[in-house]
Formats: sequence, structure tokens, C-alpha cells
Amino acid sequence: MLKGKKIILGVTAGIAAYKSAALVRLLVKAGAEVQVIMTEEAHQFITPLTLSTLSKRPVLTDFAKDKTGEWNNHVDLGLWADLLLVAPTTANTLAKMANGLCDNLLLATYLSARCPVAIAPAMDLDMYQHPSVKHNLKRLQEFGVYLVDAEEGELASGLVGQGRMAEPEHILEATLPILLKDNRLVGKKILITAGPTQEALDPVRYITNHSSGKMGYAIANLLAIKGAEVIMLSGVVNQKARKDVKILRTVSALDMYEAAMKHYEEANVVILAAAVADYRPSDVADKKIKKDGSTFALNMVKTYDIAAELGKKKTNGKFHVGFALETNDEAANAQKKLTNKKFDMIVLNSLQDAGAGFGHDTNKIAIIDAKGSNAFPLKSKQAVAEDIIEAMLERMVP
Ligand SMILES: Cc1cc2nc3c(=O)[nH]c(=O)nc-3n(C[C@H](O)[C@H](O)[C@H](O)COP(=O)(O)O)c2cc1C
Repeated sequence: MLKGKKIILGVTAGIAAYKSAALVRLLVKAGAEVQVIMTEEAHQFITPLTLSTLSKRPVLTDFAKDKTGEWNNHVDLGLWADLLLVAPTTANTLAKMANGLCDNLLLATYLSARCPVAIAPAMDLDMYQHPSVKHNLKRLQEFGVYLVDAEEGELASGLVGQGRMAEPEHILEATLPILLKDNRLVGKKILITAGPTQEALDPVRYITNHSSGKMGYAIANLLAIKGAEVIMLSGVVNQKARKDVKILRTVSALDMYEAAMKHYEEANVVILAAAVADYRPSDVADKKIKKDGSTFALNMVKTYDIAAELGKKKTNGKFHVGFALETNDEAANAQKKLTNKKFDMIVLNSLQDAGAGFGHDTNKIAIIDAKGSNAFPLKSKQAVAEDIIEAMLERMVP
């Protein structure tokens, strides 16, 4: 996700510096190039050897490289980076950043950087509450520095409260929007459905399908990273959404339909990635159905077709994205849905393609609109989400 992004990771002298190793790994794994700059004091908390091995680059600390007069150019470093992230940020470095002090390479790089800057402070309980620390945090935020706030929990001193550096996963989650914001999505509200529906038979049984919600969640998360406001109507799944995705949990097709109707007006875009039941049992037994006869017949009635109902309400300027998972006559079925449900584009995946559809981490799609069809190779669901969003943005009127 961070392929081609250059990040300077500043590491300062707090106990949480041990977590910087995990953070470097996460950033590198996400595809970023990471240049670590440590303060002199930070060497007491984690070795440069660990961080240089994980970042695959020599760690920098001093202005001068050696006694030859060669120096580490903080101006070039500041211009090189797409993001300067200081994690952990000590009270000391925070105060220096807030006041323009420049007595080490990290601070000189901070003052030279033209890229966004983010800090993840780590301090003991009372330090973090101190008015001077609060004042410095506020001041840096007023300068435009992003704050990845300290988290609550047990601190190194044994005290319990706010002060722990945010977990590396949370720091990565917070930095993605800084690096990947797409202005075309800022100010856009997106309603997305994801996962399966469950249609009850009796208090203990239901009818559902194999949808894992992975594709819908990947799209919702990426849209939020890119700056859209995302409301996701999610069936019962075991997926993780970012904190900035607003999730409304639904169980049955009727729940999802009602929630979709309620939130449709406020949305600029709807993406219908959920696998919604077409039929539900006509009656739901209030007691567990007993195993009486040798056969059991179930009467089913049609559920609301959410996509079609939203299509009827569609007004100018709204953009509808549909999904079609087909087992046969894929393109013809998708074309029919495109017209009948007033989709602006439809994402087709076929269960005939290995690695595509339910449950997999990969998907193979074709994007179909009124002008034709564009097939994509098998990719991770994250990469597919990127393709879908890009296709959507290309077709949307700004
Ligand atoms: C064991 C130990 C743990 C420390 N942990 C923190 C900490 O979590 N946060 C903090 O702001 N300072 C902490 N300090 C104080 C800093 O190490 C000290 O202010 C140092 O000068 C900061 O240097 P730097 O900001 O240049 O890296 C700690 C000091 C010691 C000895």
C-alpha cells in the first residue's frame, strides 16, 4: 500500500523505542522506504543495528558522518521524505520541536521538511498530563503536525493511564490517510454494504451464504484512507474495519434494506458489495423446529432487492456501483443488472475463476459499464479495491 512512499522515522529516547522496531517492519512490509534517524539518547533504548537491519538502511544520528568533514544533509533528508514520523516522541523532543530548537539531526530535518509530519508521543502518566506538554502538543498541532495520540494502559512505571505510545498497527493506520489522501474523495459520503445476510428459520437456525465481507471491507477501508466519509452496512462477518469507517451492523436482508433506505439520501455514492439473500423463510418459528418428519419443506418469500430499490430512488449526481457474483452467463447477467438496477458500473466476479469470489484473499474482476467491459488479472483484494475505486473516480462527475 505504501509502495514508492519515503518515510523518515525519528526515534527518540523513551522506553517505547523498543516498539519502533515493529513499526519499521510494518512500514517496510507495507512497501515504504524507511530512513531511521535516532537521537543520541535513543541509542540507550534500542540499538541502531536492529533498526538499520529492519529498515535495510544505515541509521543516522550525527550531523557529521566521520572526521573527514562529510555530513548528513538534513535539508536533502527533509526534501526526500513524503512523511516525517517521530515515534516515540519524548517530552524533550516535543518541546524542542514546538520551539524550533535544532541541536540534533532529527530536529534539523524536522525544521527542513516540506512533507507532512506526525508524532506519536510516549510518556509517563503525569508527564503526559503536564500543562507544558499539553501546550507543546497543541502548538505543534497548530503548526499542522498530525498527532497520533498516546494510548491508555499500563505504563513502564507501573502507573495506569494515558501515555503509552500508540501500538505500531495503530500508528500505521493513522499515517495511511496522511500519505494516501485523494482530493477527489474528500467531502464525499459513501454508503457501502458488505458481507452476508442471515435469514432466521427459528431461534437457533438461519439461512446464509459464503460471503466473508473481505472485498467490501477492503473497499471501505481504502475509501476512508483516501479521505471519504464511509458508512458501512455490515452483515455478520469476522473482518476488521478502520476506526474512521462508521459501521452499522445488520443481520437480515430486511435490516440491511431499512438501513440502506435510511442513509441513501446523504450518500453521494453507493457501493453494494453485500451478498443479500433473495428469499427468506416466510415464517420464523418462535420455538426450535423439531425433527419430526423424514422431510422438511420450507416456504420462502422474496426479500427486498436493495440495489433495485435504491435504483428507483436514484437522482442525478448519485453514483451506484453494483456487484455480480455469477456462476454462468456472467457478462450477460451483469449487463442485465447494470440496466435494471440503474448501476453506473458493475463489478463482476465469477466463481469459475480460481482464487476469485467468496472467502479468498484474492479476486479477479471485470468492470462493466454502459460502454463495455474491462477485465483485470487476479490480484489481492486490497489491489482490487484500488482498481474499483479508481474506475469509479474516473467515471464520476467531479
Ligand atoms: C529509563 C528511562 C525512560 C524514559 N522514558 C521516557 C519516556 O517514555 N518519555 C519521555 O518523554 N522521556 C523519557 N525519558 C527521558 C528521556 O530519555 C530524556 O528526556 C532524554 O533526554 C530525551 O532525549 P531525546 O528527546 O533527545 O531523545 C526516560 C528516561 C529514562 C532514563
